[in-house]
Formats: sequence, structure tokens, C-alpha cells
Amino acid sequence: MKLEMSGQTVAKPGEERHWVSSFYPVRGRTQEVIGIGVFVSEITERKRAEAALREQAEAVAETARQKDEFLAMLGHELRNPLAPIRTALALLRQCGSLNPVALRAHDVMDRQITHMVRLLDDLLDVARITNGRINLTMQQVDVRQVVAEAIDSVRGLIDARHHQVETALPPGPLIVRGDVTRLVQVVVNLLNNAAKYTDEHGTIRVTAATEHAHAVLRVTDTGTGIPARLLPKIFDLFTQDDRTLDRAQGGLGLGLTLVRRISELHGGTVEARSEGRGRGSEFIVRLPLAGAEPVASVPDTDLSEVSRPSIRCLLVEDNVDAAQMLQCALELHGHEVRLAFDGCDAVDAARAFKPDAVVLDIGLPRMNGYDVARAIRLLPGLADVIIVAVTGYGQDADRRKSCEAGCDHHLVKPIELNQLLRVLGAGRAVSSRQ
Ligand SMILES: Nc1ncnc2c1ncn2[C@@H]1O[C@H](COP(=O)(O)OP(=O)(O)OP(=O)(O)O)[C@@H](O)[C@H]1O
Ligand SMILES: [Mg+2]
Repeated sequence: MKLEMSGQTVAKPGEERHWVSSFYPVRGRTQEVIGIGVFVSEITERKRAEAALREQAEAVAETARQKDEFLAMLGHELRNPLAPIRTALALLRQCGSLNPVALRAHDVMDRQITHMVRLLDDLLDVARITNGRINLTMQQVDVRQVVAEAIDSVRGLIDARHHQVETALPPGPLIVRGDVTRLVQVVVNLLNNAAKYTDEHGTIRVTAATEHAHAVLRVTDTGTGIPARLLPKIFDLFTQDDRTLDRAQGGLGLGLTLVRRISELHGGTVEARSEGRGRGSEFIVRLPLAGAEPVASVPDTDLSEVSRPSIRCLLVEDNVDAAQMLQCALELHGHEVRLAFDGCDAVDAARAFKPDAVVLDIGLPRMNGYDVARAIRLLPGLADVIIVAVTGYGQDADRRKSCEAGCDHHLVKPIELNQLLRVLGAGRAVSSRQ
């Protein structure tokens, strides 16, 4: 048996030296113990190195945490100014006074804002998923529907680059348990990449099939391919092929990270294959098959304009630009609008104006939107007013908070005018699901 002891000794004031001593039996000729040997070694340097490593690891973890927080905050803050810009654009188009040049400029701005919203959404999603702050709404989902929805939303890019899309889907439903929106996001990201990283007139193929109790989805393209050295880390955050001169494809290197994390949250896996540069790529997503239950449909994305009878609307928003733009837009649709720029004014204005609907920002000075919603509901004659919460946060927990505060709908910034018009026209919700 060997006995070890370690400790430290003060060598001089302020300087400690660490040591470890091992005790072992010293045996005589017939193996009888005749004494105890002690072996002492100094490990001060090792201890120092270990402490330095520990500090370094803690610093790295802290930096990573700060980075995630910063990304989330940045995404959130950058989203806010986009809301009034988007409303202003919708307004310009509705005024119908644009000449052809202005119309083209308008379209450019519209497209770029949509792009920026997507980038910011990805940034926020990565931060949320990394922090485990994402909730999936799990339902029975038909993978064929997910594919159809995803192709639809990438159609613009695919057509612009003159790609041909081939699909091979099973004749019957291919059911997995998952969050429809997130699964569509997975396929959209893969299709977006296939379209971006394939020269014009390429072929993108999407197939889905059952293999070993899994739904297996393959997206292949005839594009630039992925060099072997990049393949092992292709799903890591910010990984991109060298594009020092050509940054034309844009992007932040988040898409595939989201694909992997969302797939994993569904109990699935994702794999990338490529024979190398210029030889195309293949991405394979495997998701566990579900038993047979009623099938959820892909969310309705028809944002066609909705015209409703005129209503009295109280608009509560501390960003004056955003408020005034939305006011113009709602007035243009024949609604009567009052503005309030903080929570307390909102309650006073509701009492005096008796609105049919309140469009309510949640982050407000003086009194937050949730408290405003509760206070307004208690006002005489306003128990049935439609309350639409508008926030930068779209998590289930945020929606629940809105619901608990008595809001009928929950919209995430930057809101689209048609979406707002639709919920205002839809009246009071049984539960807040928007
Ligand atoms: N189908 C593909 N063909 C060739 N290279 C690809 C393909 N898909 C992804 N890549 C390579 O992997 C990198 C990471 O992809 P990812 O989708 O994560 O980020 P991104 O497309 O650069 O930006 P983002 O998706 O955030 O807009 C890409 O920059 C590209 O170099
Ligand atoms: Mg991408």
C-alpha cells in the first residue's frame, strides 16, 4: 500500500510552496517491513500551471457567455428600428404615388429589410438555442408538407438563379413529431445554401423516405461542393469556406448551426457529404418517425390584404417614428387611431378614448405593457377590448406572459401590416396564439 499526502508550506511571507509526499514501506531481505520511506516532490509549478489553466477556462466560458448575451441583445436592438422602416415602406406602396424608379427603390429596400430580418432572426435563434431558451411546439408533422412549404419560401432565390428543383417524396404521409415552423426552417436553410452555393442553372434535389424507423430527408445540389478539411466543422458556428475576395453570398455562417441544433432537439441527426470542390454537396437529416395521430398543418402564410370595418384603435409605442408610421398605415385603412407613448398615458388614453382595439408595445416607459393590459381590461366598458401585444420576443414563455396579462394576440417585431390588420379583424381570441 502506498500513502500520499499533499500540502503547502509558507516559504516566506506571501510565497507558498506546494508539495506531495509518498510514503512507502521499506522491506528487509525476507520482505519484512523494516522502516518507512518518504519521497517528497515539489509541485509548486504544476499547481501554478493548473490554477492558470483553470482561470483561463473560466475566462473563456465567461467570454462565451458574454458573447451569447451580446448577440441576443444586438439582434434584439437591431430589430427595433426595422419595424418603422417596414411600415413606412408598406405605407409608401399603399399611397400608390410611386413612379417606376421609386417603385424599384422601394422593392430593393423591401427585399433588403426582409434579408436583414432573417439575419437577425438567425442571430437570435442561435443565441436562444445555445442558452436552451427555445421551446418547441411538438405536433404530428408530415415531412412532405415541410418540404413543400420550404421550397415555396425559397422559390424566389431558386428562380432568380435559374435552378431546377427535383423532388422525390413518398406517396403517403411521412409523419414525425416536431415543431413545424422549426422543421421548415431546417429545410429552408438547406435549400437556401443549395441555391446560394450552386452556380446558375444547377439542379437541387430533395428526397424524403423511410429508413430504419426514421424519416430521412436529403438535399443535394450540383454546386461548389465542400472541401474535405471543412466537412468536419461545417455545422459549427460561423464556419464558412474561404471567401476573402468574394463575400457576395453574404450570410454569417449560422444556417447550418441552426440546422444541426434544431435537428438534434427533435432527436434527429444531420450529416454533410461532398466529394470536394466543384462536385456538389449532400445534406442528410434523419428524424425519428412518429406513431399515427392527427396531422398538424403548416401555418397559414397567406398575408393577403384584409379589409375590415373601421375600428377605434389605441396605439401604444414609445418609439415615436414607429408609432406614427403605424398610425398613418392604420388610418389609411380607415381606422381611427390615438397614440400613447408610455404605459401610464396608455391607460389614461384608453379610459378617455374607449378603443375597440389596443396595439400594445410591451417594453414601455413608466409602466410595462403587461401591467397596461391588465389595467385596461379593468376599465369600465373595456373588458372585451381586443389587445394585441407587440414585442421583440417570440418565445413561448413571452406569449404565455402576454396571454396571462389578458392580451388576445402576440405579434413579434417587426410586425407586418397585413398581419396586424388580420388580427385586428379577427376580434378577440379564445387563446393568444398569433
Ligand atoms: N450546399 C452547399 N454547397 C457548398 N457549400 C456549402 C453548402 N452549404 C453550406 N456550405 C458552406 O458552409 C458554410 C456554412 O453554411 P451556413 O449555412 O452555416 O452559413 P452561410 O450560408 O455562410 O450563412 P447563413 O446561413 O448564416 O446566411 C457556407 O458559408 C458554405 O461555405
Ligand atoms: Mg446558409
